[in-house]
Amino acid sequence: MSNPSVITHDVIVVGAGLAGTWAAMIAGEQGVDVGVISKVHPLRSHSGAAQGGIAAALGNVRPVPNTGPDGPLEQVPPDAEPYDSWELHMFDTIKGSDWLGDQDAIEIMVKDAIEIVYEYEHMGCVFSRTPDGRVAQRRFGGHSTPRACYSADWTGHVLLHTIHEQALKHGVRFYSEWYALDVIVEDNVCKGIVALDILTGQVVLMRAKAVMFATGGYGRAWKITSNALANTGDGVAIAYNAGVPLMDMEFVQFHPTGVYGHGILLSEACRGEGGYLLNSKGERFMERYAPGKMELAPRDLVSRSEQTEIDEGRGVGPDKQGIWLDLRHLGREKILERLPQVREIALNFSGVDVIDELAPIQPTAHYSMGGIPATVDGQVIADAQSTPVVGLYAAGECACISVHGANRLGTNSLLDASVFGRRAGYAMAAFVKGGARLQPVESDAVARNEARITRLMSDAPAGKGESWSQIAAELKSTMTDNAGIFRDDARLRQALSDIRRLQERFQGVRIMDHSRRFNTDLLGALETEHLLTFSEVVVVSALARTESRGAHYRTDYAKRDDEHWLKHTMAHKSPDGPVLSFKDVNINWEKYPPQERKY
Ligand code: FUM
Repeated sequence: MSNPSVITHDVIVVGAGLAGTWAAMIAGEQGVDVGVISKVHPLRSHSGAAQGGIAAALGNVRPVPNTGPDGPLEQVPPDAEPYDSWELHMFDTIKGSDWLGDQDAIEIMVKDAIEIVYEYEHMGCVFSRTPDGRVAQRRFGGHSTPRACYSADWTGHVLLHTIHEQALKHGVRFYSEWYALDVIVEDNVCKGIVALDILTGQVVLMRAKAVMFATGGYGRAWKITSNALANTGDGVAIAYNAGVPLMDMEFVQFHPTGVYGHGILLSEACRGEGGYLLNSKGERFMERYAPGKMELAPRDLVSRSEQTEIDEGRGVGPDKQGIWLDLRHLGREKILERLPQVREIALNFSGVDVIDELAPIQPTAHYSMGGIPATVDGQVIADAQSTPVVGLYAAGECACISVHGANRLGTNSLLDASVFGRRAGYAMAAFVKGGARLQPVESDAVARNEARITRLMSDAPAGKGESWSQIAAELKSTMTDNAGIFRDDARLRQALSDIRRLQERFQGVRIMDHSRRFNTDLLGALETEHLLTFSEVVVVSALARTESRGAHYRTDYAKRDDEHWLKHTMAHKSPDGPVLSFKDVNINWEKYPPQERKY
């Protein structure tokens, strides 16, 4: 590092959750020099908030025979037939995706799942165990067997700590509390990024032979979300601004059990362990919507069912926007052993003890199925023909590979991040060791980003000078009201016109804090600009998709339409807003042709 405002590594990873840290760890292990930047301390990354499990068809556990779909589980005797298979995991994932998942990618993910869980185990990950010492597994929505490997309800946290240690062991350099401002892509070649060192306020050029985005999701565009404050979709917005398309952005998952009024996750493990959902009349209403699966139907279906109950006047809570989560019948011992974090969160945020009280919950924006299009090796692509953006990689929630299609199954996210983070790590190491070079940076990217900050800190023109927080609040309102669980043409058009008006108003935004050190006012403004950028893509893609599939539900087009919409959307930036093109879904027509999706 000769000039302090230019930093160079072979590989720079943006984001230190599971996908980014896996990639960094593997590339480091392969002898490549890796730097990871993270806007929060790496161990505060949002992967740590995933609670209930990581899916793998280990087949360690099965229901006790003749006890019904939510009866007790037992460990599979060592000499018994395997109770699960990657093929079944694959079918469940395809069905969960409403046939929009790319089946070649899903096959890789579910096969690698088994190996990666044992790899975590061998690295020392403290999984919960069966009585005979195997990795324990629990039920989860949309999976036809107990397949979620877990560490009580701290699974993401435990996996993240395990892999972070390994990354440190392999010499990965972490830049904690650094914020990506821009990615430099010239002539379809990625040359580095521009980053802000949050502590000093310095804008830095970071050059690399390969750059990977692992920047997570973007639930912060909605009022009620399980996502951390940091999940503002910076990565997808930055990539889009640099000319990279965004794929399947209309598919945003609402998790059925966010803390009422806050959105913080109460794990699906609550229902996996046998919890019920009740309306204001005390009815287990899932009987009406998914009698075969009840509370363990996939998330899109459960969230829609909850919202229907609420909209029809059977909600709970002061504004009747909630639903009851009932864990009381599970008993103190099970709750303390399997769901300790859930109990703590409900105590802290709702003031209820789930051991003997009902917890109020509501659907919460949770996961982005769409994102930066990438191959199974994390290679970012520039178009529907899969032209590579040389040197640019993506994995985890910010990427769309696409293994989740229109709706992700719970526990497939920690899996996706681990499997494809690891694969991207190997791919980048091979790219670097195969002779990739640092490319000269032609553009004035640093100056452009300095100017962006200077404008936000400058005096506003007369009559302008609005605060970003008002704009962010209005954006969240329109996204919640008009681009949420239920959508239609009129509401989406309303959202689009609101977003465009807010984008205009953002030009007048100014910040009050003009210091450079740890300027959270500046960060809030930059994040709001990113929220406005990708929200427009979400809404334009949702308007175009005139069907209902997975998490994208149009009341004016309530049926899935395979004839016209069995395809991915790809949104490219243009001066007139997002322009859509389409990409085929990878389908094995003989083995897994589209079927009606019933639970
Ligand atoms: O509900 C949960 O524990 C979340 C898991 C996931 O999103 O995969």
